[in-house]
Amino acid sequence: MKDQRGVPTSASNQESLAIYEQALRALNVYRGDPVAIIDQALAADPDFVMGQVFKAQVSLTMWERSVLPTVTASLAKLGELDNRCNDRERAHAQALRLWAGGDWRGYKDALDRLLVEHPRDLLALQVGHQADFFLGDRDNLRGRVARALPAWSREDPAYGFVVGMHAFGLEECGDYGRAEEAGRHAIELEPDDSWAQHALAHVLEMQARQAEGIALMESRVEHWAQEDNTFQFHNWWHTALYHLDQGMPDRALDIYDRHIRADPAAVQLMMLDAVALLWRLHLNGHDVGRRWDELAAKYAGGEEIGFYAFNDMHAMIALTATGRDADAARLLKSAEAAADKGDTNAIMLREVGLPILRAIRAFGAGRYGETVDQLMPVRYRASLFGGSHAQRDILHRTLIEAALRGGDKALAHALAHERIGQKPHCPFSWGLHRRATQ
Ligand SMILES: [Fe+2]
Repeated sequence: MKDQRGVPTSASNQESLAIYEQALRALNVYRGDPVAIIDQALAADPDFVMGQVFKAQVSLTMWERSVLPTVTASLAKLGELDNRCNDRERAHAQALRLWAGGDWRGYKDALDRLLVEHPRDLLALQVGHQADFFLGDRDNLRGRVARALPAWSREDPAYGFVVGMHAFGLEECGDYGRAEEAGRHAIELEPDDSWAQHALAHVLEMQARQAEGIALMESRVEHWAQEDNTFQFHNWWHTALYHLDQGMPDRALDIYDRHIRADPAAVQLMMLDAVALLWRLHLNGHDVGRRWDELAAKYAGGEEIGFYAFNDMHAMIALTATGRDADAARLLKSAEAAADKGDTNAIMLREVGLPILRAIRAFGAGRYGETVDQLMPVRYRASLFGGSHAQRDILHRTLIEAALRGGDKALAHALAHERIGQKPHCPFSWGLHRRATQ
């Protein structure tokens, strides 16, 4: 049988495949729980290969240690079902094995190859796109989707989602004009595509078009912040950034309290947005009260430490901001041990993660010169440990703040101009310049 896009599957049960389509749609629009939907199919039909593949692939897009048991369980089942799998399904299983073994780059590459053969495999495209994001591979954020696009046509029901992913890839590659065009086209085709909305949010962030950004987010809030939208916290985060850079920290904090604040059971992705906003406020000298405590307490638990360097950076920030130096020292030790392994996270840590962790810890201790020394050489290649330009801006902000607080006015002045060169109309850039020249 084939799925709705004509991709061959080994499924023989029409009902299972119908549930797969529902789960895939939920994944495309980031609404509800796609895994809970596919679990319905697996409960009735445990041998449904694409059900097992879907469950593992979607679970791992959280990119945290807690999902390993789920991925491993699906892989065990896929091992039993190997003789039923077609080549594409086997390629999914092989990619999953690489991910579970910590070879995230191998996983990403395996999905690239799979998509060359099956460019209409929408699951592979979306999780591959996410992997490019977690690995900071901006060229492939654009390239992977561009390679698949010719196999899609405007008449395809999910075409808009492919355009939305392309928009984000274009944006991360700095092609803002085409990114905006693609993003607007995508939300025309699929008004509830919150990933395309997010691509537009990035374009406006990178071009410092804060007022337009606020208007775009507020005017379409019913399309990206529905009650069951699981990505809304991140689009709220982008909205808060606009307010912050316009000099409205109270508005940013209000958004934090209502939409971003991570509950104790939160996933790492939510926690890091919470940390990233509080740290920007903290760097700007705003008091955020007790808001750090719940985040720091959760990080201090340590369950996710040493798994993914980008998450570790945010953990280090929360521990540093709350003066938990013993926990921060433990985190650094775990990260140093993780850097000796042979997996992708170890490469990330060695290349950029460890100096960044040391830089943040030094900032917390007031050793601003050390922060500058650690951050200067790595900040431009920090994409190696993942995230977006907007997320990694935290490094540039920390660096300039360290220069200012450490009394290195010449460096602060130069860095302010670097920022003004990128965002000439941003009030925040000029605020830094003022402080550097006082
Ligand atoms: Fe984003």
